[in-house]
Amino acid sequence: MATASDTVAPAGADSTERVFPQDFLWGTATAAYQIEGAADTDGRTPSIWDTFSRTPGKVRNGDTGDIATDHYHRWREDVRIMADLGVGAYRFSLSWPRVQPTGRGPSVQKGLDFYRRLADELLAKGIQPVATLYHWDLPQELEDAGGWPERETALRFSEYAALAAEALGDRVRTWITLNEPWCSAFLGYASGVHAPGRTDQVASLRAAHHLNLGHGMAVQALRAQLPADAKVSVTLNLHHVRALTDRSQDVDAARRIDGVANRVFTGPMLRGAYPEDVLRDTAHLTDWAFVQDGDTGTIRQPLDFLGVNYYSPTLVSAASGEGSKRSDGHGASEFSPWPGGDDVAFHVPQGPTTAMGWAVDPSGLYELLMRVKQDFPRLPVMITENGAAFDDYVSPEGEVRDPERIAYLHGHLSAVHRAIQDGADVRGYFLWSLLDNFEWGYGYSKRFGTVYVDYPTQRRIPKSSARWYARVARGGVLPP
Ligand code: NOJ
Repeated sequence: MATASDTVAPAGADSTERVFPQDFLWGTATAAYQIEGAADTDGRTPSIWDTFSRTPGKVRNGDTGDIATDHYHRWREDVRIMADLGVGAYRFSLSWPRVQPTGRGPSVQKGLDFYRRLADELLAKGIQPVATLYHWDLPQELEDAGGWPERETALRFSEYAALAAEALGDRVRTWITLNEPWCSAFLGYASGVHAPGRTDQVASLRAAHHLNLGHGMAVQALRAQLPADAKVSVTLNLHHVRALTDRSQDVDAARRIDGVANRVFTGPMLRGAYPEDVLRDTAHLTDWAFVQDGDTGTIRQPLDFLGVNYYSPTLVSAASGEGSKRSDGHGASEFSPWPGGDDVAFHVPQGPTTAMGWAVDPSGLYELLMRVKQDFPRLPVMITENGAAFDDYVSPEGEVRDPERIAYLHGHLSAVHRAIQDGADVRGYFLWSLLDNFEWGYGYSKRFGTVYVDYPTQRRIPKSSARWYARVARGGVLPP
C-alpha cells in the first residue's frame, strides 16, 4: 500500500502543497436514473423512480428522469469531457430495468450493449470503469411483488448481478453492489421521500435486511463470474454522527442514530452480526424474525474496499419537545426515516451550508475516515462520492464560476490527505458529480455537477471547478 509519505513531490511542489499517493485514483461519479434519460428506449421498463417521479407532488416541480441529461445518447461527449478532466476512473450505475426489464429472466442485449460501449470508450481513453449495480432504480414489477421488504428481491438482485458480471466482467473490473442502502431502506420505505414512497418503519427494517442479504448474495454471484483480480465492494453513506453535548442522553441519541444509520449495515456486512443495541432499539417494532439462519454469514463477504459517500456530518441530541424539530437534511416528511430514533432531535451546525442546507464541514470526513480505520483496520476505503450543490448560473460571458464548490472540494480533499497521513488507507476519490443531474426529490433544482447542464439545449459547460479538479487530478497535488 502506498502512503502519502512514500510519494516524491513533483518538481515545483512547495511544502504547503499536499501530494497524494502516486496510485491514488481520481474519479468522478454519476448514476443511471439521474443522467441517462431515454426512459422508454430499447426495452427499458419503468423503475420505482419512474413511477414515483410521475406521481404528482413527489418530486419538486414535477421533474422526472425521462430525459435527464440525455446521457444515453450523449455518452460519447460525456466521456470526452471526462478525458479532458484527466480523471483515472468513472463510477456509473447500471439501470436494472434497462438490463433486465422485469427484474426476472433474461437480459436485454441493447441495454447491455450500451454499457459495453460506454466501458470500451472509457478504457480507450484510459479511464477505469467502476460499475454500481443498484443506485435506487428497482424495476417496478419487483416493487409490485413487494419490493425490498421481501426476501425474494434479494434473490432477484443476485441473479441480476450474475447477468451483469457475465456480460461486462471482461471490461469492468471494479464493482459496487449497492449505493447507499440506508436511503433505499429508510427514505424509500420509512419517511417516503424517495421511491417507492412507503411510510412503514417495519417495512424499512425488513428492507434494510434484504438489501444486506442482496449485497451478500450479489458479492458471491459477482465473484463467481469475475476474474480473480476484480474488485468488489459496496457504497455506504456512513453518517458521521456527533452528539450536541456530552450529556448522557445526547450521547445516547448519537449512539442510536449511529446504529440505524451505519452499524445496521456495517454490522452484518463487515462483522457478521446485527448489533445488539440496534435490535434492542427497534424491538418495539419487530423481533427481526425475517433474519433467517445463515443470513448474516451470507451477508458478510470479504470486500476489496469499502465505498464511502460523505457530504456533511449529522448533529443530534435527545429530543426536548420545544425546538427539537427534525432537520436531518434528508427531505421533509412527517414520517421519520429513523426507526428506534423517534426521540432524537437533529440540528444544523453553525457555519456555511450548501444549497441543500447541508453544513460544510470537512473535519467530519477526516474523523469518519479515522473511525473506519480504527473499526476496520485492514479495509481500504474509496471515497465513492463527495461534492456539493450550489446555485450555479451561466454568466453573460457564458461561463459558470463556482468558487464555493472549489472551496468545498479543497477542504474535503485536504481532510482526505490528512487522514492518509494519519494512517487511513484511502485509495481514491470520486467527485459527485460529473454533470448537473436529477437530484431525486429535488428534481433539477439542485446542481451538483462540476459540469453545468443547460437542460433546454443539453449543452454542457465545464464550471471553473472542472478546470480546478482537472489540475488536481492530473498532478495528484492539492494546491495550497
Ligand atoms: C448520494 C447519492 O448517491 C446521489 O445519488 C445523490 O445525488 C447525492 N448523494 C447528492 O445528494
